[in-house]
This record gives sequence, structure tokens and C-alpha cells, in this order.
Amino acid sequence: MYSDKVMDHFTNPRNVGEIPNADGVGEVGNARCGDIMKMWIKVENNVITDIKFKTFGCGAAIATSSMITELAIGKTVEEAEKITNQQVAEALEGLPPLKMHCSNLAAEALGAAIADYRSRTATTA
Ligand code: FES
Repeated sequence: MYSDKVMDHFTNPRNVGEIPNADGVGEVGNARCGDIMKMWIKVENNVITDIKFKTFGCGAAIATSSMITELAIGKTVEEAEKITNQQVAEALEGLPPLKMHCSNLAAEALGAAIADYRSRTATTA
């Protein structure tokens, strides 16, 4: 049912944890299943230099959050927020159709962390 890449990121997720002094934090929930994902980003000179996540959810949610951290790190904030759930699924060599909604969670969590980062920099600028 799952690609080797999904299984790899599920059993050995990258960038799990928290960033204590994060520049942006996003937390989202999946209304369809109740799973929760939280993401922390560190931004320097408009580039995402570090990213961590915690996912209380299904295997596909864990694999997609792991993969999106790898896709986002080293990218500018603008580039990172353009990463779609489709791109995450493609990088994982596909997700079963029933699990595509799980990949929305990763893109939404990253988007929420970036929105938080923007709101913080707007008030301190
Ligand atoms: Fe909840 Fe996958 S079933 S995110």
C-alpha cells in the first residue's frame, strides 16, 4: 500500500522535535480524523535554516511531515510556502488516494508556521 519512501520516512522520520526559540510555530488539526501536527521554523535572512515537527497522527501524516521538512529546509520563506501537498506526495513516490488528505496537514502546518513568522516580524519591524 505504501511506497518504500513513505515507509522510510515513517519508520525513520527526519527533523522530529521542537525548536525552543523558533521564529514561527504552526499547529493544525485534520478535521477528518482528528490528527494534530505542530511545526517550528527558524528563519535567518529570509531562509528557513531549521525546521522541526511533532505529529500525533497516522503513518502518512508522519511521513509527509518528515518529507516536507526536508523539502523546506534551505528554501526562502516564499519558496517554502509554495510547496504543495501534491509535491510532498510526489517526493514520497505517491500516497494511496485515501491518504492524500494526510498530506494536506503537512502543507498546512508549514503554512501556519510561516504565517506566524510573518505576524511576528510584522510587529517587530
Ligand atoms: Fe489523520 Fe492521516 S488519518 S492525518
